[in-house]
Amino acid sequence: MNTHRRPPDTFAPVSKPEPAFQLRSPAKINVFLEVHGKRDDGFHELETVMLRTNLYDVLRFEATTCDALRVRLADYSLPALTATFPLDDSNLILRAARALRERTQTRHGAVITVNKQIPAEAGLAGGSSNAATTLLGLNRLWGLNLTKQTLHETAASLGSDINFFVEECQSALCTGRGEQVAPIQTSGCFHFVAAQPGSGNSTPEVFRQLEFADVTDRRRIQSTIQALQRGSTAHLQVASFNRLTQAAQQLNPEIAELMHNMKQMTDRAVFMSGSGSTCYIMARNQREAGRLKARLQHLNCRWLGALNVR
Ligand code: C5P
Repeated sequence: MNTHRRPPDTFAPVSKPEPAFQLRSPAKINVFLEVHGKRDDGFHELETVMLRTNLYDVLRFEATTCDALRVRLADYSLPALTATFPLDDSNLILRAARALRERTQTRHGAVITVNKQIPAEAGLAGGSSNAATTLLGLNRLWGLNLTKQTLHETAASLGSDINFFVEECQSALCTGRGEQVAPIQTSGCFHFVAAQPGSGNSTPEVFRQLEFADVTDRRRIQSTIQALQRGSTAHLQVASFNRLTQAAQQLNPEIAELMHNMKQMTDRAVFMSGSGSTCYIMARNQREAGRLKARLQHLNCRWLGALNVR
C-alpha cells in the first residue's frame, strides 16, 4: 500500500488565474453647451458643462496570454444596441487599446466584453465613455502605471468627449474642443427624465448644420455652474442652454416633435444633450422623476429613462 500520497494537483499544470475585472462606463448629459466658432483644425471651440449620470455600460477586462485584442458584446446588452455596435476598426474601445499599446510600445492582449446599455447616437457619449473606461481599465490590467496626464493626452488624440470620463469627476466645464476639463463640485442630486426619438444624430452633421449667432451672455454659464454648486434644480432649469438644439432639430425633425410632446405632457422646459438626439426634462427629486416618466410612458420614442447625478 502506498501511504505516501502526493497532493492531487502535483502533476496538474499550475495555471495562474488570468486577472479580470469590470468597470462601469457612464453616460454623460450636457446641461450647457455654447459654440464659440469654428477653428482652423475643423473642430468647434466649445464651452460645455457635462454631468456623469447613473446610466452606464459595463466593460469587463480579461488578460490574454497572446497579443490579440478582442471586443465582444455581452449577451445581456440592450438588444436594440447590438446591431449598431461596431466590431470593426471604427470601434473606439479597440482604438483606445491600440493607442495605449502604441504609446507604451507594448504588445499586451486583452478580451473586452461590453454590456451595452447607453443608447447610440444619443448625445450621451456612450462610445467616448467606453474609450475612456478602456484607457483606465487597460492601464490597470496591463500594469502600465501611466499617469492621468498621459491618459489625458491619449484620450485627446482619440476624440473630444473622452477626457471628461478620464478625469472621473461628477461634473465639469469642458472647453477647447471639449477635451480641457475643469471639474465642478456639485451638491445634492440632480434628476432627469430623458427620451430619444426614433432616430439618432450624427455629431459631424449637426455641427455642419450649425449657423452662428451671437453667443449667450457669460452670466448664463456662470449661473449654470452656480446652480450645480448649490444643488438647485430650479436655477439649473432657468440657466441651461444648448446651442446645437436648432441645428439638430433642422436635421432631425423628430427632435422638434419629441421636445414639443415632452413639453405638452409635462409642462416642463425641455433640453437636448450634446448633439442629440436625446432630449430631457429636469425633476426636483426621484419621486417626481418617476411621476414625470410615467406621464411620458406613451411618448413615441426609441428610449425613455430616468437618470440622476449625485
Ligand atoms: O471628437 P469627436 O470624435 O467626439 O467629434 C466627432 C465630430 O464632431 C468631429 O469629427 C467634428 O466633426 C465634430 N466636432 C466639432 N467640434 C468639437 C467636437 C466635435 O466640430 N469641438
